[in-house]
Amino acid sequence: MAIQSKLPHVGTSIFAKMSALAAQHQAVNLSQGFPDFPCDPKLLALVTEAMQNGQNQYAPFIGLLPLREQISQKVAASYQVNYSPETEITITSGGTEALFCAISALVRMGDEIIIFEPAYDSYAPVIALCGGVVKRIALKYPHYKVDWDEVKRLISPRTKAIILNTPHNPCGTVWSRNDMLALSALVQQNNLTVISDEVYEHLIFDNVRHESVLRYPELRERSFVVFSFGKTFHATGWKVGYCLAPKALSGEFRKVHQFVTFSTSTPFQVAIAKYLENPAHYEILPDFYQQKRDYFLKSLHQTPFQFKPSAGTYFQLAYYGHLSDEPDVAFAERLTRDYGVAVIPVSAFYSDGTDEKVIRFCFAKREETLDLAAQRLELLAKLLV
Ligand SMILES: Cc1ncc(COP(=O)(O)O)c(C=O)c1O
Repeated sequence: MAIQSKLPHVGTSIFAKMSALAAQHQAVNLSQGFPDFPCDPKLLALVTEAMQNGQNQYAPFIGLLPLREQISQKVAASYQVNYSPETEITITSGGTEALFCAISALVRMGDEIIIFEPAYDSYAPVIALCGGVVKRIALKYPHYKVDWDEVKRLISPRTKAIILNTPHNPCGTVWSRNDMLALSALVQQNNLTVISDEVYEHLIFDNVRHESVLRYPELRERSFVVFSFGKTFHATGWKVGYCLAPKALSGEFRKVHQFVTFSTSTPFQVAIAKYLENPAHYEILPDFYQQKRDYFLKSLHQTPFQFKPSAGTYFQLAYYGHLSDEPDVAFAERLTRDYGVAVIPVSAFYSDGTDEKVIRFCFAKREETLDLAAQRLELLAKLLV
């Protein structure tokens, strides 16, 4: 029996495809975004301890109180704001679930939601599942800057919300204070809700401050703000994240969350709550990843790719249009197959497949992995010269 698809245009994701191709050709996998180094053994020990202590049953559906309390202290220390563990912080099964719940709680049939492309691949399908209409602003290589007049023109009486992502996957850009002020003015004038995807909050370089929505009271009061411990603690497979939102918004968010998953894995929550008692674990992240970025850029300099250093996230984009006319999917496949380095074509992040001949590398890898990728990319350089 077949059913009529609610997502007829959604197929196997490019991430799964490129990872499979990488495995098939024993390529260095710089495609999908996950670290290939372990998380802190202390954190692993805390999870084991929680399991052995019998903390293996359902957590409260909004998350364990000690974890919500630690998050409250963390955001107070990082952004000087108070979020109530009781009413404004909800633990989710990763950032993806938080995004799903926020969009589902908000969007009704015919509502228009503005997103910026290239975009994380979950936003548009979830909006579509809710009967919403995706309105896209295309950001362009190499700066991927938002033209706020264009955003203003796109807003209609049906516009319900704007979804943003800073630091940005895949572009590696970060929004400035001026971006946040422009956003703030528009959402106030048009009474819009904001969904702010800040899963890479700590992966930001060159001493630039993360311009979180949390820093802006007029934005905060109308925002769902989404975070992920997978990114922060090198454990993407654990799928633990959270959403901050004012009480009324959190109330609606929680109604959806309880029927999506009810609650998130208990021992991971116990462990992360204890681990968060030491802020040093996340305060070192900008330096840690900046070193990885710089290490990777040194090898990219030996290649003919053109690039602008990533300002945040663990992704680096590179332009190859002066080397080849191939579409980016074909180029990424060839790089994987013939040169043994798997990457993601950036057209995958545009709903209309915009192809600016840009590919994405993930540098959340051990130095040995980055070295091996560098050797192979240097070979490409020699062949192309
Ligand atoms: C921009 C962005 N948002 C959200 C997520 C989802 O985070 P999680 O793995 O915690 O579900 C990701 C993961 O890749 C991401 O890149």
